[in-house]
Amino acid sequence: MSRKKIVALGGDGVGPEVMQVTCHILETAGLDLEILKPLCGMEAFKAQGNAFPDEAKRLCEESDAILFGAAEGPSVVILVYLRWLMDNYVNLRPVKYYPGAFSPLKNPEGIDFLLIRENSEGMYPGREGDIPWLAKKLQDYRDPFGRTLDFYGEGKFAIRLITQKGTDRIARYAVELARERRSQGFAGKVTCVTKSNVLRQSCGFFQKTVEKAVKKTTEIGYEHFHVDDAARRLIRFPRDFDVIVTSNMFGDILADEAGEMVGGLGIAPSACLGGRKPYFEPVHGSAPDIAGKGVANPTAMILSAKMMLDHLGMKEEAQALEKAVAKVYREGKHLTADQGGKTDTKEFGEAVLKKI
Ligand code: NAD
Ligand code: IPM
Ligand code: MN
Repeated sequence: MSRKKIVALGGDGVGPEVMQVTCHILETAGLDLEILKPLCGMEAFKAQGNAFPDEAKRLCEESDAILFGAAEGPSVVILVYLRWLMDNYVNLRPVKYYPGAFSPLKNPEGIDFLLIRENSEGMYPGREGDIPWLAKKLQDYRDPFGRTLDFYGEGKFAIRLITQKGTDRIARYAVELARERRSQGFAGKVTCVTKSNVLRQSCGFFQKTVEKAVKKTTEIGYEHFHVDDAARRLIRFPRDFDVIVTSNMFGDILADEAGEMVGGLGIAPSACLGGRKPYFEPVHGSAPDIAGKGVANPTAMILSAKMMLDHLGMKEEAQALEKAVAKVYREGKHLTADQGGKTDTKEFGEAVLKKI
C-alpha cells in the first residue's frame, strides 16, 4: 500500500488543540501516513484575509483524506468547502458506548449504532429571504389554509430541498451499510426518521425513497419513526437501533443527542463521505467555553482519525487505535473533565499512546 497523504486542518477554538494531540498520536505510533498541516482558520484569516487559503485547498484536493477540527466564524468556509464543494453527501456519525465513559443513562452498555445524516441538502445551506419577496414571486401559491403568503406580512422564510438525486443516493448508502452491518453480526436494520405526518411531500418523499431502496433487498429490516418519537426512543431504547438514516437538520440534532447518550460531544466522531475527498471531524464544534484552556476531550477527534484509517483500508491500525481509547476509558485513570476526570487534552493523548 502506498503511503497515504493526510491533510490536518485544526480550524478554530478547541479544533487545533484536539487536532494537535491526534496528529501526535498518529505520528508517534509510527503509522505510514504523511500528515500535512497547512495554515487555516482564524490564523490564516488574520495573516491572509482568508480562513481557507488556496494552498490548503490544493493540498486537500491532492490528499487521500482530510482531518478537520472545528469551525467558527470565518473558518466556516472550510466546512462549506469540505461538505458542499467536495460533495460529501454522507455524514456518518457512529454512536458507540465505551465502558467507563460518562453517560447520563443508567445503563448505556451495548449501545452501538450508526446515524447517517444526509449532508448535502435539506435545510442546508440556509436558503432564506423575506416573506413579502416570496409572496410576490408566488402569487398563485395557497398554503394548506388556502391563504396566499401575503396574509403573513413581514417575516422570513427558509427553503428545504429534498431532491430525487440527494435522497436516492443517501437511501442506497443506508441500505448498503445495513447489509454490511448484518454481515458483521449486527441487526442489519434501517430506521428511517422523518416528519412525514407534517411535511407530507418533502419528508414523505424521503421516507418513500428509503422504503423503495430497502425493498430492493430482502436481507435487511426496516422501520420508520417520526423525528419527535425517534428522539424519545433514542433515550428509552438505545440498543434497538442499527442504522438510522435521516435528513440533514434532523440528523444534526439527533447526532448531538445520541452523542450525549454515550458520554457526550467530547467522544462523538464523524466521517463525511461520498465526495471528491473524504473528511473526518468530531461532531462537536469549537467549544468556545473551554477553548484555549487545554482541557478539551480529544477522543472525538481521535475516533474520527480511527474512522479515517478504516476508510483508507488501514483496518489493523484503526482497530489498535480504538482499542487503546477503549482501554483508557475502561481503566478510568486518565479521563478529561467532561468525563469527570482531571486529565488534560495532551495527557489524555499520552495515555492513549501508552496503550497502543
Ligand atoms: P459545541 O459543540 O462547540 O459545544 C457544545 C458543548 O459541548 C460545550 O459546552 C462544549 O464545551 C462541549 N464540548 C464540545 N467539544 C468538547 C470536547 N472536545 N471536550 C469537552 N467538551 C466539549 O457547540 P456550540 O457551542 O453550539 O457551538 C460553538 C461553535 O462551534 C459555533 O460557532 C458553531 O457554529 C460551531 N460548530 C462547528 C462545528 C463543526 O465545525 N463541525 C460543529 C458544531 C458547532
Ligand atoms: C455539525 C455542525 C454544523 C451543522 C454547523 C457548524 C454548520 O453543527 O457539524 O454538526 O449544522 O452541520
Ligand atoms: Mn451539529
